[in-house]
Amino acid sequence: MDTLRLQYPVHTGDKRLLLPAGAILSMETLDDLISSSKATSYRTHPLFKYGSVKKDLLHQMERPPYDFIFSGREKIESVMGMLEKVRLVTPVLDSLGYFKKDDYHTYCHVLMVFALSTLIARDLLPDSLGWMYEASTGPTHDIGKICVPMHVLKKVTPLTRTERRMMDHHSVAGYVLLSYFQKDPRNLAAIIARDHHERRDGSGVPRGIRLTDLAVEIIVICDVYDALISPRPYRPDPYDNRTAIEEITKLAEMNKIGWEVVKSLVAHNRREKPEHREVEVSREKRGTPPSPNFYGIVREDDNASGLAHEKRRHRRVALTGTATLKPKGKRDVQPVQTMIADISLSGMGVYADNPIEEGVSFSIDIYFVSLEGSMATVSVSGNTCFVRQIKDIYFVGIHFKEELDPIKHPSLYNYLLCI
Ligand SMILES: [Fe+2]
Ligand SMILES: [Fe+2]
Repeated sequence: MDTLRLQYPVHTGDKRLLLPAGAILSMETLDDLISSSKATSYRTHPLFKYGSVKKDLLHQMERPPYDFIFSGREKIESVMGMLEKVRLVTPVLDSLGYFKKDDYHTYCHVLMVFALSTLIARDLLPDSLGWMYEASTGPTHDIGKICVPMHVLKKVTPLTRTERRMMDHHSVAGYVLLSYFQKDPRNLAAIIARDHHERRDGSGVPRGIRLTDLAVEIIVICDVYDALISPRPYRPDPYDNRTAIEEITKLAEMNKIGWEVVKSLVAHNRREKPEHREVEVSREKRGTPPSPNFYGIVREDDNASGLAHEKRRHRRVALTGTATLKPKGKRDVQPVQTMIADISLSGMGVYADNPIEEGVSFSIDIYFVSLEGSMATVSVSGNTCFVRQIKDIYFVGIHFKEELDPIKHPSLYNYLLCI
């Protein structure tokens, strides 16, 4: 295992410190932790006997698109029959109680990743039942979030760099916790907790390794899919199912995830439920991502922002902002999501994932977050005046049709004056 250093402490749900910040996460460290006097033997209990897990899971399976994915008596009975046999140690079950009480998004998320990954594992893994018992994957992959402050988990505006690091800590924290609870740092559930934000091309976290394990990849894809189709603190509206599958397809096109799991997911979303090997995945992109969406937008820490504040009085650099560009008079062309790099009263520069033609007119929805966290939304008109490609991203200059003024755009104007 590549060596990881903990950036933050790892503690149990009852706040017992397992490892401090700065600890080197080697096999020896984990073996020492497991054999230390802190180690306790935990008894296992049936997952479905804990609280209202079974009822809540069935309830979540009734919401779209899961109602369609799990449609058919045989499918529900088969998956529920598999899940029914799962037993987990007490602290893992208690983490579900914690999420249900304090972070309902995460609670529903871990249950549905569990159910969906079991369905897909049934298609793709020869010993799916064994995999599921060994991995107990769904309800445990995000257990490390018990080590992330609740205000970070539930933040509705962009995370600061420090908060992003706190959030990313949940993968390694989950690895330590599950190694400790299961008394084995090599158990699949612990490995999945550690690696479920890694990608095939090595662009993930925490280690940036190239993901090659199909069992882990099933969780990776179910994790992304459920995050897209569910409301999240940083994005109040979920993706519609079509757009969510397009986003998943884009990840496969970029070789961040593999096609096999994507095909299985698409097969369960098709009316005729084809065999996953026979699925042709559409590459057409016509969905519209919801706005606002602050996923992946990170702002400077408050101290850094304070310093930057002085400089920005003159430079007018947007602290945090996104813009949705809607081509005028082209109903068949989908809106483009961008991140604002720079803005003034007469125009702005944005970063976009895809090329945009020069000279195209757009109506533009701008979303800003102020230093205090309040949000401003305004609509303006403009046209692209230049497009530059920088590696695999595009920098687009936009000229506003009318200069921003305090009467027409009071919230944006005030915002511009204070940056
Ligand atoms: Fe996660
Ligand atoms: Fe997750």
